[in-house]
Amino acid sequence: MNYRHAFHAGSFADVFKHAVLCRILHYLREKPAAFRVIDTHAGAGIYDLTSAEANRGGEWHDGVERLLAAIAAGKLPDNVVTLLAPYLDVIGALNVPGKLTAYPGSPALTRAWLRADDRLIACELEPHAAIALSRHLRADSRIKVIEIDGWTALQAYVPPPERRGLVLVDPPFEENADFHRLSHMLGLAHRKWATGIYALWYPIKGRGEADDLAKRLRRSGIAKILRAELLVSPVSDPTRLNGSGLILINPPWTLEAELAALLPVLSRLLERQPQGGGYTLDWLSGEAAGQTKPKPKAKTK
Ligand SMILES: C[S@@+](CC[C@H](N)C(=O)[O-])C[C@H]1O[C@@H](n2cnc3c(N)ncnc32)[C@H](O)[C@@H]1O
Repeated sequence: MNYRHAFHAGSFADVFKHAVLCRILHYLREKPAAFRVIDTHAGAGIYDLTSAEANRGGEWHDGVERLLAAIAAGKLPDNVVTLLAPYLDVIGALNVPGKLTAYPGSPALTRAWLRADDRLIACELEPHAAIALSRHLRADSRIKVIEIDGWTALQAYVPPPERRGLVLVDPPFEENADFHRLSHMLGLAHRKWATGIYALWYPIKGRGEADDLAKRLRRSGIAKILRAELLVSPVSDPTRLNGSGLILINPPWTLEAELAALLPVLSRLLERQPQGGGYTLDWLSGEAAGQTKPKPKAKTK
C-alpha cells in the first residue's frame, strides 16, 4: 500500500467527489429518520495543505483553490454556489477566512453533517492514515474508526441497522483489479442491502477500464445506476489522470438535476487547458436508462 491521499487532497477529483457526497448528505438530512454512512476507504480525515505532500504535485491549486477563487470573484452562477454550499461550509469552518490551509476528506465532511442519531463507520487500512483519522475524529460517539480492509467492511456492515444511508467506496486504484473488485463487491453488498445509496469513485485515464466497469454494471441486474464523469482533459494520454467518475446506485431523486447543473460548470472551471474538460451524465440502468443521452465529452461541450 503506497497510496497516500495527502498528495491528492483537494484535487479536481476531490472537489467533484466531495461536492456530490455533500449533496447526498444534504438529502439524507432532509428526512427525520437517522442514517448511517459507511466509508470503506476513508483516508486520514483532514489534510494539511501546507505540508510537503500536499505541495509536491500541488493538485489542490487546480482543484479546491481554483474553485474558491472563482466563487470569490463571483464567476460561478448562484444556483451552483447554492448547490456547493454544504461542501463549502465545511471547508470554511476548517479555515480562517481568505486563507486555505486545511482540507476535509470524506469522513470529516460526513461528520459535519451528522445529526445526533446519525452514524459514521470510517474504515482505513493504512496504519498512519488510520491513526490520523482516529485523531481527527476522536471523541465523537457517533463515529467508529476501524482499521479494517474496506472490501471486508463493505460486506460486514451492510445492511446497517438504520436501513437508511450511504456507502462510499473510494479505493486507491493502485491496481486495475480495483475496477473488478468494485463491481464484484458492489454486487454482493447490493444483494444484502438493495435499497441503500452507494457512491463508487473511479479514476479515468484511458476509457477502457471505465467503459468495462459500465458494461459490467449494466449487466449486473442492479436497478437505478446513475453515472457521472468529470473530465479535465481529453483521454488521449492514458498515463495521466484525465478525469474521474462516480457510480451512484439509488441516488437521491434530486441528484440527477443537481449534477446536470454542477457538471458543466465544474468541468469548465477545472479543465487543464481551454476546451479540455467535459462530462457525462447518464443512467446505466433504471427507468431512464438508454433515454438520457450522454452529455458532450471533452472538446465537444
Ligand atoms: C482515495 S483514498 C480515500 C480518500 C477519502 N475517501 C476521501 O475522499 O477523503 C483511499 C484510501 O484507502 C486506503 N486503503 C488502501 N487499501 C485499503 C483497504 N484495502 N481497505 C481500507 N482502506 C484502504 C488508503 O490508505 C487511502 O487512505
